Amino acid sequence: MLLDLSGRHALVCGASQGIGHASAIELAELGASVTLLARSADALKTAAEALPRKHGQHHRWFAVDMLQTDKLRIAVTDIVADHPAQILINNTGGPPGGLAHTAETAAFETAFRQQLLAGQTLVQALLPGMRAASYGRIVNVISASVKEPIAGLGVSNTVRAAVAAWAKTLSGELAADGITVNNVLPGYTRTARLDGLLAAQAGSSGRTEDEVAQAMLATVPARRFGKASEVAAVIAFLSTPAAAYVNGVSIAVDGGRTRSLS
Ligand SMILES: NC(=O)c1ccc[n+]([C@@H]2O[C@H](COP(=O)([O-])OP(=O)(O)OC[C@H]3O[C@@H](n4cnc5c(N)ncnc54)[C@H](OP(=O)(O)O)[C@@H]3O)[C@@H](O)[C@H]2O)c1
Repeated sequence: MLLDLSGRHALVCGASQGIGHASAIELAELGASVTLLARSADALKTAAEALPRKHGQHHRWFAVDMLQTDKLRIAVTDIVADHPAQILINNTGGPPGGLAHTAETAAFETAFRQQLLAGQTLVQALLPGMRAASYGRIVNVISASVKEPIAGLGVSNTVRAAVAAWAKTLSGELAADGITVNNVLPGYTRTARLDGLLAAQAGSSGRTEDEVAQAMLATVPARRFGKASEVAAVIAFLSTPAAAYVNGVSIAVDGGRTRSLS
């Protein structure tokens, strides 16, 4: 199986921790040079230092807020001018929880900017390099909620469905250039994001965090939370030459939690 990413450059967003950082590790293990993006410079520096370099590759990091679309465009255009990237892991923090019908309109705007406009900005900046290489891998980290909306994540459910539709559209537009666009849908994955959701749901329901966690796990056939590395393994595979004919799909990595057939 063709898994070697030597000579490839991957831009991994939301890479200072959690699923993004785990993805950066897996891509570096396969030989890619990785540029990590997130807001916290200190966390990025530590995260970059932890990446494997056994193929002699160079890893970099850049602190940027995906909510600041213009700054993001300038930063990423600058990064790829020197080092064209063929792999984009489009990942960031998730919107806060809450009901859809009580959410402020501003919350939808913010989530749309962070999840979709940032992705569009990144894709447009990286496309020339992908086309020049006749090799592009765009992997969007979304959520299993695009198959089955999750109660209590009203803004997230709404905006992530838009990201899935955007990605499917792109996959048809770019395939002839050797570029694939796929989505990975994490289920309950043990990261700071999940810890935050557990605390928020415990606070709003009067239950303990352990009770909230047990209720979540009752819906997961595997009866455990996923590890960030388990989600990252699928993201990394979709980035390889071996995955060239996988395009326009959304793969749940959720321990079997999603019950729908498609
Ligand atoms: N964990 C789960 O159970 C789960 C389940 C379903 C879906 N997901 C989704 O998968 C994605 C990754 O989840 P995760 O658990 O790895 O999250 P996480 O641990 O909270 O990590 C989020 C990453 O995104 C960065 N980030 C957040 N806001 C940003 C912004 N405005 N601009 C740039 N970078 C930003 C964070 O770094 P800085 O704070 O330094 O910017 C961090 O590196 C999220 O969209 C999440 O909602 C997660």
